[in-house]
Amino acid sequence: MLTAPSKDLLLRPHRLPLIAPSILSADFTRLGEECRAVLAAGGDLLHVDVMDGHFAPNLSMGPAICAAARRACPDAFLDVHLMVTDPAAFIEPFRKAGADHCTIHVEVLDDPRPLADRIRQLGMTAGLAFNPDTPAERVEPFAEAFDLLLCMSVFPGFSGQRFIPSVLPKCARLSASLRPDQRLQIDGGVAEETVAGCRDAGCDVLVAATAIYGRPDYRAAIRLLREGAIEG
Ligand code: DX5
Ligand code: ZN
Repeated sequence: MLTAPSKDLLLRPHRLPLIAPSILSADFTRLGEECRAVLAAGGDLLHVDVMDGHFAPNLSMGPAICAAARRACPDAFLDVHLMVTDPAAFIEPFRKAGADHCTIHVEVLDDPRPLADRIRQLGMTAGLAFNPDTPAERVEPFAEAFDLLLCMSVFPGFSGQRFIPSVLPKCARLSASLRPDQRLQIDGGVAEETVAGCRDAGCDVLVAATAIYGRPDYRAAIRLLREGAIEG
């Protein structure tokens, strides 16, 4: 029996780390079933990777797919990661499609704080993402305005890339100044072998596509990520 996560899941998590399966690697011919399966297997939320073919060199999914995930999982927490050049254009469409949270990228905005306000006005929590080569100094002035920071540990574009460990000192630096109600998410190449380092660096929301959907047993895969994290 699934219990519905609070819409404040990120602010007041019932456990840490949160495991966030990315539906980017789900079998899209069976999307609803694939969304329900990872939640039933212990995933805490669904991570929705949105790419526009401009900010990221790939096209992935738009609001219609998010709405389909919402119909399949009425009580799930839907975490939308906007890897797009013009996030302002997509915040409201994704809210209408059932998103609970929106993360935007710092690289496309001089000052991301007005969009954090807009995301919250629409009833969502707000995240700020940054690429592997974006320095902590670019993020720090805005961190207090966001509920979550998202450190990319691969360059946006594709699931199944190799984890970039040189982002971990940046995670450790940023996590040291976060409030208890702020989360540090890591996305890209997170797997059994890399999860302990992520936890040591203060990451408490772990996104994984390949390390969950690429395995035959989703429950075992999620347990490995969670337990690897505990041991780390
Ligand atoms: C990059 C995506 C990926 C994806 C995770 O564009 O944001 O990071 O969610 O994929 P894996 O877990 O396969 O690296
Ligand atoms: Zn993502």
